[in-house]
Amino acid sequence: MRTQVGIIGAGPAGLMLARLLHLQGIESIIIENRSRDYIENRVRAGLIEHWAADLLADVGVGERMKREGLLHWGINIGINGDLHRIDFQKLVNKRVTIYGQQEVVKDLVARRLADGGPLLFEVDGVGVHDLTSERPKIRFTHEGRAQEIECDFIAGCDGFHGICRPSFPEGVPKVFERDYPFGWLGILTESPPADHELIYSYTDRGFALYTMRSPTISRLYLQCDHDEDIDNWSDARIWDELHKRLGGARKLVEGTMLQKGITPMRSFVVEPMQHGRLFLAGDSAHIVPPTGAKGMNLAFADVMMLSRALEGFYKAKNSDKLGGYSAACLRRVWYAQRFSWWMTQLMHSFPHETPFDRRRQISDLGYLTSSEAASRMLAEQYVGLPLD
Ligand code: APR
Ligand code: PHB
Repeated sequence: MRTQVGIIGAGPAGLMLARLLHLQGIESIIIENRSRDYIENRVRAGLIEHWAADLLADVGVGERMKREGLLHWGINIGINGDLHRIDFQKLVNKRVTIYGQQEVVKDLVARRLADGGPLLFEVDGVGVHDLTSERPKIRFTHEGRAQEIECDFIAGCDGFHGICRPSFPEGVPKVFERDYPFGWLGILTESPPADHELIYSYTDRGFALYTMRSPTISRLYLQCDHDEDIDNWSDARIWDELHKRLGGARKLVEGTMLQKGITPMRSFVVEPMQHGRLFLAGDSAHIVPPTGAKGMNLAFADVMMLSRALEGFYKAKNSDKLGGYSAACLRRVWYAQRFSWWMTQLMHSFPHETPFDRRRQISDLGYLTSSEAASRMLAEQYVGLPLD
């Protein structure tokens, strides 16, 4: 097969890139190693920044999100049971949209199929070759047959566990990372949310996040040990801890557990995000702790940069933006990394911390929720900085 841009991975990054390229009249083929059903039911975060929700609408993939998504003009910061609202409308006049990532994936897949662009599911044995040539290739098997796609460019949108980043030559990628000494135990429940807006709750027992997918579906997270075993957490124990970490601020109504799992917390960046004609975008290049809900939004920002660079190459025969792709992405990536780290260190209990650290955290939270300047700093990053 032959195409202009070979895309590996049908997550938010790969699917959005394909849509942007289609609108620019640039051909692409997407290959995905999971099934359509699997990727459309993979429970992930569900918060879309203001500009990213506008992007989905602008590229013709926002109709259902506008119907079913929840517009939030603020969040609540809980400090041992006292709630403090951060008013996005007053501070920055922007909002976020609560709409599950798997719903975004469903909408992008439907759009891709309607566009008639190739999207191959359940591929296997994917490898990338001749990355520094003008005809890089993707080789894989599909339906038992060996396949090869000759491309002008390859977009590595295959996530943190994909094959593209590891295909960089030894010594080329510089990795910047840190692991956190805790994880998140997340549940999806058929129960009404604790509040109509999100609650980020700091308590002496540890952090908890009370968010939602709809007025009847809640998404709830508990800080837990980094190596916690989900089998140690019965439904009753999870609900008990969620009640306690709300600190009496709101009444939490229990309901049917639809899904539960544990997410590790890490910060990770690879530099550069490109090698030859292979360009990384999204989780293949960076991971943020979920505290700031930046993952999908950052993936969209990367592919916006990449689609602009590819348009420059094909339309204006100018490769400057392709050469500057990594630098352009990494400015925003590091903003999101710092913000996600900052929210994580602010809201979580760290093992081995001293009473001084706890008092400092409480003071930090008190300053954040009482200073308009500090609240605006949080608000403008939370709703999403403007795209360069
Ligand atoms: N070949 C083909 N597809 C692959 C391969 C491979 N070798 N390895 C992984 N994939 C697929 C995965 O099955 C997944 O569908 O690549 C896709 C990568 O998608 P994501 O992991 O969702 O990453 P991305 O598109 O960058 O979106 C980032 O997704 O994981 C969340 O929290 C993350 O919200 C963030 C968002
Ligand atoms: C989610 O909806 O899953 C979510 C929302 C906000 C966060 C993290 C996760 O900070």
